[in-house]
Amino acid sequence: MAKNRTQFICQNCGTVHQRWAGKCDSCGEWNTLIEEGTSGGIGAGPGSLRSARKGRVVAMTTLSGEIEDAPRIVSGIGELDRATGGGFVRGSALLVGGDPGIGKSTLLTQAAAALASQGHRVVYVSGEEAVAQIRLRAQRLGAASSPVELAAETNVEDILATISEGRRPDLVILDSIQTLWTDLADSAPGTVTQVRASAQALIRYAKSTGAAIVLVGHVTKEGQIAGPRVVEHMVDGVLYFEGEGGHHYRILRTVKNRFGPTDEIGVFEMSDGGLREVANPSELFLGERHAKSPGAAVFAGMEGTRPVLVEIQALVAPSPLGTPRRAVVGWDGARLSMILAVLEAHCGVRFSQHDVYLNVAGGFRISEPAADLAVAAALVSSLTGLALPADCVYFGEISLSGAVRQVAHAQQRLKEAEKLGFGSAVLPLGSEEIGVGTGSGAFRPTELAELVARIAGSRRGSAAQAGELD
Ligand code: TYD
Ligand code: MG
Repeated sequence: MAKNRTQFICQNCGTVHQRWAGKCDSCGEWNTLIEEGTSGGIGAGPGSLRSARKGRVVAMTTLSGEIEDAPRIVSGIGELDRATGGGFVRGSALLVGGDPGIGKSTLLTQAAAALASQGHRVVYVSGEEAVAQIRLRAQRLGAASSPVELAAETNVEDILATISEGRRPDLVILDSIQTLWTDLADSAPGTVTQVRASAQALIRYAKSTGAAIVLVGHVTKEGQIAGPRVVEHMVDGVLYFEGEGGHHYRILRTVKNRFGPTDEIGVFEMSDGGLREVANPSELFLGERHAKSPGAAVFAGMEGTRPVLVEIQALVAPSPLGTPRRAVVGWDGARLSMILAVLEAHCGVRFSQHDVYLNVAGGFRISEPAADLAVAAALVSSLTGLALPADCVYFGEISLSGAVRQVAHAQQRLKEAEKLGFGSAVLPLGSEEIGVGTGSGAFRPTELAELVARIAGSRRGSAAQAGELD
């Protein structure tokens, strides 16, 4: 007789364990293992309840052949359409993840209203908020008059039965996947089993009807409910909505997209009237600059296809500690250690007696190695107390040997810098020669040591200017 087995499933990463443990071996999170029954669980596909049958032969095809462009529904909210790669794709499932309160429901309400006003059938199902709360938000957003179909419901079968009535919907928004539950699985809503089974049912609905579905997923720290990661592999696209507490702008980042480019970002600003598009993010990130203080360097970065200028701030201060402190916000800590090591080993700059703090202004997060040169410049500037030229941008990767390496899209970075009034640039030698930024002083070091010497040498120049040197 088959025994009714139970399993322990990590609510963070979805790994199945046979035995309970305090820590998940797979992702290293603590207290995330929860006992769940096996029915409707992992591997329970659509056919698992049917008796074993002989397989059907499917026709093979070739790699070449007719391709159609994915049919899209364009919301008209430029930054959202940019992140989705040109609009929601019919018959696809999109996951929008983010911390609670970041603005996911606000963004999707605005998108729903925009699409419904264009004549699309848009259904918004909320499992989190009551209808009155959603209406209140819609009023605040000035979207109350648009013909969005609204329901507060959490059972997947009921939702599918409801939206199957009448004309096929163009877009179905489910806020959030963690509140949904299906009759097919018997664990509590929010567990990995329920989240996966519900997502699977909805994705099957999208594929079979051609409606686009959007699943909202909360990022969870405590692991009490399953995070969006457990459905990332099932959906066609994943967008994360990010922002730092205390900053009012939000970044919609494309992490996965089966129908378009990844690494694209959409930038928004949260206001009293909902999310406003920010068409030129560089102006926003450079808004509150104090160009005259040492330790600040402007990095000319790329986010997907778009250049973004952002200020990198470093503070290097004498440390009272045996092991000095290194703290990073918005960049990779390991990468900072590497830059510090290269500065010590190849440029004779010593940080071993100093605390080092590095911050990317405005809560922006950089993942590009191209920021190396800007980080190094900010660090040296702070250590020496010499401010960098205010009208200069920096980009370039630094190798462990201390050499400055080329990065992609030099032309676009320089164009953006020029547009925003920057007159000079420090960039790798051999970057696509195009005339932009070269007229007004481009400095092209091959070694990091050259840049360090230039910054240190500016003491003499600035002192002479101020008449301090004779
Ligand atoms: P919400 O969309 O409910 O977040 P999520 O769905 O990601 O949990 O947004 C919540 C926050 O946004 C809330 O703190 C209030 C703020 N907000 C505004 O500042 N302006 C607005 O117009 C709206 C609708 C919300
Ligand atoms: Mg919400």
